Amino acid sequence: MNISIINGSPKPGESTSGLLIKYLLQEMGECNVQVFKCALQTTELAEIASSDVLVLVFPLYVDSIPSQLLQLLIILEELKNMNHDMMVYCIVNNGFFEGTQNYIAIQQIKNWCTAADLNWGQGIGIGAGEMLPFIADVPLKHGPNKNIGYAISSLATNLLNKKSGKDSFVSPNWPRFLWRMQSTKFFWIPRARSNSLKKQDLYGGVKRV
Ligand SMILES: Cc1cc2nc3c(=O)[nH]c(=O)nc-3n(C[C@H](O)[C@H](O)[C@H](O)COP(=O)(O)O)c2cc1C
Repeated sequence: MNISIINGSPKPGESTSGLLIKYLLQEMGECNVQVFKCALQTTELAEIASSDVLVLVFPLYVDSIPSQLLQLLIILEELKNMNHDMMVYCIVNNGFFEGTQNYIAIQQIKNWCTAADLNWGQGIGIGAGEMLPFIADVPLKHGPNKNIGYAISSLATNLLNKKSGKDSFVSPNWPRFLWRMQSTKFFWIPRARSNSLKKQDLYGGVKRV
């Protein structure tokens, strides 16, 4: 069985999507799998088209799919040599705490499966995505990675058996209020500063020019 995983994060370096792919590979054990980014060569498109299983792992952008991934999905949908027995799964992570924010993006992937005549497998929505790298040392299914670990493990089992599963929405096992405080102080504000923005710019909305 050939498995293709697409990392749909537009980030050039490390990403939460990349970390989630690492977790998924860990749960899948030894198998024939290839990981791709969104910018693909023709030969890579052919490899994806012939896969038995396709897993899309991406961040939520404006309640939807990042544009690079959307562009790739349109290309895949129009390929003539697509294996229509393919099962499609997805893991979507987002910035807000609640994994349920990813519901619409998962519905969009389901609709794409219908349009591309592919088989829907299962979707997982994971909240507080930017927290995950901070807790990467905690083993899956333990502590703050408890629910995330179980969700990824169930998806790995389903995809290895080419079975469908119930969509699930999880967040780290961590108090929401605490992550809100921690992320503001230690993540979002320092990230804004590193991008030459002030704290107030985070709350200002769209600037008038
Ligand atoms: C342009 C843009 C739009 C975003 N839109 C949303 C959103 O609608 N809802 C949300 O919860 N997070 C949103 N986020 C946050 C990302 O989903 C979050 O940071 C995610 O963990 C990034 O994952 P990655 O590291 O795999 O790219 C957005 C981020 C960016 C840059």
